[in-house]
Amino acid sequence: MNKVRAHRNRTITLNRGETERYSTNLIHFSKPASVHTLENKIVNQDTFEALTLLPENFVDLLILDPPYNLTKTFNSTTFRKKSIARYAEWLENLLDKLLPTLKNTASVYICSEWFSSTAVHLVLDKLLKVRNRITWEREKGRGAKRNFKNASEDIWFATVSDDYVFNVENIKLKRRVLAPYTDTNGEPKDWLNTSDGQFRLTHPSNLWNDITVPFWSMPENTDHPTQKPEKLLAKLILASTNENDFVFDPFMGVGSSLVSAKKLNRKFLGLEIETEYCLLAAKRLRLAELDMTIQGYNDGVFWERNTLKGQKQKTQTPVASTRQSKKTISQETLIL
Ligand SMILES: C[S@@+](CC[C@H](N)C(=O)[O-])C[C@H]1O[C@@H](n2cnc3c(N)ncnc32)[C@H](O)[C@@H]1O
Repeated sequence: MNKVRAHRNRTITLNRGETERYSTNLIHFSKPASVHTLENKIVNQDTFEALTLLPENFVDLLILDPPYNLTKTFNSTTFRKKSIARYAEWLENLLDKLLPTLKNTASVYICSEWFSSTAVHLVLDKLLKVRNRITWEREKGRGAKRNFKNASEDIWFATVSDDYVFNVENIKLKRRVLAPYTDTNGEPKDWLNTSDGQFRLTHPSNLWNDITVPFWSMPENTDHPTQKPEKLLAKLILASTNENDFVFDPFMGVGSSLVSAKKLNRKFLGLEIETEYCLLAAKRLRLAELDMTIQGYNDGVFWERNTLKGQKQKTQTPVASTRQSKKTISQETLIL
């Protein structure tokens, strides 16, 4: 049954026609696949089954956002919480199957909640070169009476070798300057004076508090219970890949990493067991062709949260191609 939603609710849903139409975009492997047949595809299949049919050595960036170690139902599939040791075994078994798909220059990011983050660290340390642990402050979180509210997630960063891509210039954060120091000539010291105010481009740290979870008034929102924001994935993709590199997401949910990859001109492959999520991902990829913007990433920089508030609405530039004309057309006016 369709939910009744508020007037300004922009949650992406599927009608019957779209369900039929996007079903034709999904694939399922029954025999070993070659790289070119995987490019920009959504595979509706159990990841553990599909992994046995993937080629070796094609992935530049692996984004792993698996079911967290919590008892949680994703549509019809339920993941059951395990001991930390058992979760580590589950993860190691998964990574063992994924490693052959990675190029020697590949990077890997693994998302985790705090409790099982230790398992992720131990497994990564055994199999890859651990580079960092990003803590993402999600802001939202359920208040607890006898504990601290859990409002963060970890994203572990590892690489296969010491030869890896890291485009630090592409992921700098644009911050408002609080103390606008000047040099002896009265010129700004490491900050920019613009018509919108005084800003500094700062090196990204491993504490991310500039990104909100998708919510109902955002055009990227769906009903997926653990959807990641496009902005967060854009940061990982811009940091660790170049254009036309291959991004692989074996638990893609509603395809947030695929959408960001597409908007940033990267190739992608996503696996997901739930058909409804795959269909929503297909619709989001179609919508990305019409609106290439990524909320919070404007003019080639990541903006500190709420920085643009109060200013006149800036024109968001499409990110994949400057030649592409910007189209921000509401979903309802389009036949998708
Ligand atoms: C944490 S969510 C990923 C959310 C995703 N990053 C997004 O932004 O939409 C994990 C996803 O893995 C899927 N999943 C769980 N077990 C799976 C399996 N064995 N094979 C494929 N997908 C699976 C779930 O249905 C769920 O959508």
